[in-house]
Amino acid sequence: MRRYVFNGNIETLKREYYDVIIVGSGIAGLYTALNLDKKLRCAVLSKAEIEKSSSWLAQGGIAAVVSKEDKAQCHFHDTIVAGAGLCDEESVKVLVNEGPGDIQQLMAMNVPFDLSEEGDLHITREGGHTRNRIVHCGGDATGRETVKTLAAIASTRSNISLLENVFLSDILTSQDKAAGVIVADKDGYKVMVSPNVVISTGGIGQVYAHTTNPIGATGDGIAAALRAGANVRNMEFIQFHPTAFYKPDESGQSFLISEAVRGEGGILRNIQGECFMKGKHPMKDLAPRDIVTRAIAEEMIKTNGKYVFVDITSKSEEFLVKRFPTIFNECKKHGINISKQWIPVYPVQHYLMGGIAVNLHSMTNIKGLYVTGESSCTGVHGANRLASNSLLECMVFGRRCAQHINKNKHEASYDYKFQNITVENSNLDITHLKKTIKHIMVQKGGIARNGTGLREGLEQVGGILNDLNIIEFKTRESIELFNIAIIAGAILEAAVARNSNVGAHFRMDA
Ligand code: SIN
Repeated sequence: MRRYVFNGNIETLKREYYDVIIVGSGIAGLYTALNLDKKLRCAVLSKAEIEKSSSWLAQGGIAAVVSKEDKAQCHFHDTIVAGAGLCDEESVKVLVNEGPGDIQQLMAMNVPFDLSEEGDLHITREGGHTRNRIVHCGGDATGRETVKTLAAIASTRSNISLLENVFLSDILTSQDKAAGVIVADKDGYKVMVSPNVVISTGGIGQVYAHTTNPIGATGDGIAAALRAGANVRNMEFIQFHPTAFYKPDESGQSFLISEAVRGEGGILRNIQGECFMKGKHPMKDLAPRDIVTRAIAEEMIKTNGKYVFVDITSKSEEFLVKRFPTIFNECKKHGINISKQWIPVYPVQHYLMGGIAVNLHSMTNIKGLYVTGESSCTGVHGANRLASNSLLECMVFGRRCAQHINKNKHEASYDYKFQNITVENSNLDITHLKKTIKHIMVQKGGIARNGTGLREGLEQVGGILNDLNIIEFKTRESIELFNIAIIAGAILEAAVARNSNVGAHFRMDA
């Protein structure tokens, strides 16, 4: 694979210097920035506007032990069970033990968590949790409210520059150490030099045809880190959210019907109106996500339906408007009053359990290159993420990353190695190739997989990658296509190698 996508004269590019560069402005990026020493000059780069991140869309909430009825040991147990035995226990211990402290920190930052009538944090339940432990904001607008609060604080910090519409092209390295990034903004390409680069670019949903992730989730950070020599792991573990609103369209982004709806009593029904989770798992409709997803996929095949339903008509309109304002209004836009009608849903790509391999301080194998949030693989999710553990991971490991940088400032290196390659002028049809990859991933790297399909998919994606490896990337869309192809290749390669059936990686031939 080629090392860089930028292929111009780097010496002529404008240079800027920072102590820390954070690529990504979701909760992982912002929380990492806010935990940095205020003496460190930090740039937080947002690919689009701040409100376009996956974090912004997060509905359900943040899982943490915040009530007397709950224990870190229970949260640990639920995480390990959901992860199908493949979680890193040390990482999970850090997550569940340190998480409540980060919730306290968010409260001190005035994140507007919903409260119970007694004035305590209101907590709810989602799939795989044996206790109520999900804190939330604005009913079902946890991500939006948290990002808004963190971004507002970051904008008042004189050491933090929040830069929107900055696109990551490449990560620079010097003698196996991070040295900065090449980015493109409205003025063209520039080099941002820094000894500490944090990748917090979120998910990879756009690799699939249907996803809850925003349009920008093309895995740019993971792909750039791979090109720079970072190690990935667990890439085969893709979480499909069981309940996205059934409204297939061209954009690929599907609206989420939060698992918290089932946490508040919603039940799944097939198109004949039958409840089908009984007998599938002792936790029925609130079983871990991979189990519910497969049960829905089976039910869709059995009934020849394109969707199933979530039925929350047991709750009043008054309750639902208050508890799920975003979901209530979105469904209403489509002519569905969820207090009276069932919601049509289907499973779509939602989350990547794997990513760039990091240790307990979010460090990668490249000195000075850190990864936080969904782009990282801390090992806490194993083969299947427990609901609402992801925002907690963003915070716990974002703070740890910042603490590590605070203690270990690296000297900036300006002698990064950059090499141009001979490229071909090409007229590849980007839209068509993107569609082809998404189709391959749904058919061959989707909910149910088999060895033959995975190997075929890998070969097809490999062919596309070979073509892209030697072309001149003239547009941001063409770089995104390359990134999507790199990620698709990594997922399929890992899925071929894991010849067993575990968590979200379901091999029909194993
Ligand atoms: C949801 O609200 O169902 C999604 C929460 C998550 O992905 O953890």
